[in-house]
Amino acid sequence: METVVSGIRPTGNLHLGNYFGAVNNFLKMQQDANCYFFVADYHSLTTHPHPDNLNASVKQVLAEYLACGLDPEISTLYIQSDLPETTELYLFLNMLSYVGELERSASFKEKIRKNPDNVNAGLLTYPVLMAADILIHRATKVPVGKDQEQHLEMTRNFAVRFNHLYGVEFFPEPVAYNFGVQLVKVPGLDGSGKMGKSEGEGNAIFLIDEDDVIKKKVMRAVTDVGPTGPNQQKPDAIENIFSLMRLVSSNDTIQHFEDSFNNCTIRYGDMKKQLAEDMNVFISPIREKIKLISADEKYLAKVVKAGADKAHENGRKTINEARKIIGIRSF
Ligand code: ADP
Ligand code: TRP
Repeated sequence: METVVSGIRPTGNLHLGNYFGAVNNFLKMQQDANCYFFVADYHSLTTHPHPDNLNASVKQVLAEYLACGLDPEISTLYIQSDLPETTELYLFLNMLSYVGELERSASFKEKIRKNPDNVNAGLLTYPVLMAADILIHRATKVPVGKDQEQHLEMTRNFAVRFNHLYGVEFFPEPVAYNFGVQLVKVPGLDGSGKMGKSEGEGNAIFLIDEDDVIKKKVMRAVTDVGPTGPNQQKPDAIENIFSLMRLVSSNDTIQHFEDSFNNCTIRYGDMKKQLAEDMNVFISPIREKIKLISADEKYLAKVVKAGADKAHENGRKTINEARKIIGIRSF
């Protein structure tokens, strides 16, 4: 049976980008694979969150995962810091990763551009910690969005380097994966790039957003004056609205707006109103579940404890083996 690992940092509420890039993709695999899903609290330390906020965010993200349909009876759902073996593997992999390749990673470059005052070593070795998360379970598939593709390429490099150095076939070469289709990049509402929690106010639709909030954000989404002739190519901002519609609306609705775009009768106000409604239909059951689950501390504690035990059992095996391979052996 194949092993699947994915994680999300507890740096804010889950949004539709997280859902369609990672969570939904993972949900489709839970029945048929050995699945691990974790809250990446170690990763979030690069930005020095306040301890109370960190703890609250971990609980919140966990509740959101569960509300999306992650089943702790089938999958292993755990907190990254409950599996400290990850950090030992991180140390081993750090010995095999080159400063040059880490400096060249697109995410590192972007992070230092955005936060030039906090270029810490944890940021530089972020992809190594991520590789440790994946390789600690010797996973082969990693359900993530398109922005994580390069991190997976780095993970494969570290895995191959380890195997080569020690002459073993120990770590597999995991791939970024989306169930049966291409990796996804869900666009944001500001017409520029991807939906993300740090991309600015109003760019992301969160799974906890109420009806009126969704409406307000969607109605503000960037559009233009409309097509000036039949069957034109859509400008990026308009293509983004269509992409979002393809995630939550029915085929008939999408076709209706495709046709009206092509024959120049489209009214973006109507399209956005429809999109907001369809998003709300999609989000509202998840939103209600989030409220129920996040209020149930006992249940969350039970899930986390069971997840920690299961993750630990597997992680321990990998670390014991890796130690032996490296030459860290008892006398
Ligand atoms: P954010 O970018 O909002 O900070 P994270 O970096 O925590 O979110 O991403 C967690 C997961 O969600 C990753 O697998 C990432 O690829 C996916 N993801 C985030 N935003 C998007 C998006 N706009 N489209 C597709 N996948 C996304
Ligand atoms: N780097 C991922 C992100 O920012 C989160 C993450 C950390 C992750 N470790 C992982 C994703 C392991 C998949 C597998 O979105």
